[in-house]
Amino acid sequence: MSKFSRYFLTVVVAILLFVATAAFFQTDGSSSPNDRMAFSANIALDDEMQIERGKYLALAGNCASCHTAANGAFMAGGLAFETPFGRIYSTNITPDANTGIGNWSGAQFLNAMRQGVRPDGEHLYPVFPYTAYTKVTDEDAAALFAYLNSIPAVSQEGLENEVSFPFNQRSLMFVWKAMFFDTGVYEEDESRSAEWNRGAYIVEALAHCGACHSPRNYLGAERNDMAMTGGVYTDKVPNGTLRPWSAPNLTSAQSGLGLWPHKEVAGYLKTGINSFVETFGPMNEVVLNSTRHLNDEDINAMAVYLKSLPANETDPKAAAKDSVLGMGRTLYNLHCGTCHLPTGLGDEESAPRLGGGSLVVRASNPASLINVILDGPERPDPPLPTKRRKPMEGFRYLLNDEEIAALTSYLRSAWGNTGGEVVAEQVAEQR
Ligand code: HEC
Ligand code: HEC
Ligand code: HEC
Repeated sequence: MSKFSRYFLTVVVAILLFVATAAFFQTDGSSSPNDRMAFSANIALDDEMQIERGKYLALAGNCASCHTAANGAFMAGGLAFETPFGRIYSTNITPDANTGIGNWSGAQFLNAMRQGVRPDGEHLYPVFPYTAYTKVTDEDAAALFAYLNSIPAVSQEGLENEVSFPFNQRSLMFVWKAMFFDTGVYEEDESRSAEWNRGAYIVEALAHCGACHSPRNYLGAERNDMAMTGGVYTDKVPNGTLRPWSAPNLTSAQSGLGLWPHKEVAGYLKTGINSFVETFGPMNEVVLNSTRHLNDEDINAMAVYLKSLPANETDPKAAAKDSVLGMGRTLYNLHCGTCHLPTGLGDEESAPRLGGGSLVVRASNPASLINVILDGPERPDPPLPTKRRKPMEGFRYLLNDEEIAALTSYLRSAWGNTGGEVVAEQVAEQR
């Protein structure tokens, strides 16, 4: 059975199974008409303080990274997202009355954030991470709405999505929602500190780190049992092909944030650089457009929460054969050691620490590590302050698949790393 027909069959079966649940779900919206009226009363579109607060929350939620296209107008949408089900474009969320959200009521905005439903009653796709934003409080949603209404209105029509049948039937999203979507505001954990709860709220509700760092099931929903243990994020290279990235484990696992003390987590989120690594690739946007703008209290709260996540990881893969590791070591000393040093420890002025420092090196899925070696680490634009003297170049044309496989296998088992073997086919897939 083809992948497509498997999806299709699953959807059909799911519909039969879940009609009852869905009927329940539809009447179970957490915003009753009364709540919505109360919500709208919270919004004062001319309240400067509320607008300022909304601006900060929009940074924490990184709305602009998704709703602003390259060289496009701020928040006017049009950025394409490649999903296994097709291409979905972000929408115009400026206050333009015809093409944006200028005619929306506060209650309609809350419904989009909390329930993933548009004013016309259609379901939104979860590329818009409402599975996280559902946890945003009424107060914060009101502030976000006030802020969005204060930015310049831009008239720009939305682009037509290219989603395959049956996923282009938005009405079917109710099945997906019944299966995978829990609505409702973040609930404080009384047994934890206020700081921990603040961190959990930002990480889970606004910053949606799990959208990339949690693995997803075959219908694209985050797997709760493996939350934050590492996921896949796909972007597009200029020639049009899709390139998968692995987002590493953020629990306290050996292959994850277990490696970094609190201050390194906080430093990385605040400045994009810490004693171990420096941001590159998909994290550039997260740091540039979001986390670096957050105040120290919130950054510390996020680090407290992240560091409290219990270790959860799959068993490490076995290391490669000695002959392969030997070839990898030789290649490393020849091409990488001058900057990252033969000890793998790097230094402030030359390069990051690949031994017991980089999560990307240890991640169970080596996709991001291979991307860095093939194309070099893509620097943030505009650049963030760095002390490094020389940027790293890509090795796409210098090393073949087998050599890069041996090199990555070596990196992943040298210096106490436990990432395991990488084979040439994995490199070919990334290339
Ligand atoms: C990961 C990317 C991403 C992020 C981050 C994101 N959005 Fe979106 N958003 C989308 C996409 C894609 C859609 C269109 C979904 C669809 O067509 O079903 C969307 C749709 C919406 C809609 C519905 C608009 C309409 O016309 O139907 C609203 C409102 C919205 N986003 C607000 C926000 C706010 C506020 C934030 C920040 C707190 C935010 N978004 C962050 C990708 C994102
Ligand atoms: C758009 C997807 C995406 C989002 C959202 C995201 N990440 Fe990442 N993250 C990645 C990818 C992909 C990598 C590996 C490549 C890279 O570093 O860019 C990564 C790497 C990391 C690393 C390891 C960096 C290194 O060099 O070893 C940390 C730590 C991290 N992310 C933390 C976070 C936190 C905390 C959040 C939420 C505030 C977050 N990420 C949100 C995709 C994402
Ligand atoms: C000219 C010096 C130089 C050389 C040679 C070099 N690198 Fe780098 N490398 C850097 C710098 C600087 C960075 C940090 C840039 C950034 O992450 O934005 C980096 C980043 C990395 C990262 C990302 C670490 C993380 O988690 O953030 C990896 C992995 C890496 N290099 C591996 C290699 C490998 C493997 C080789 C040899 C094939 C190599 N480098 C050669 C300078 C170098």
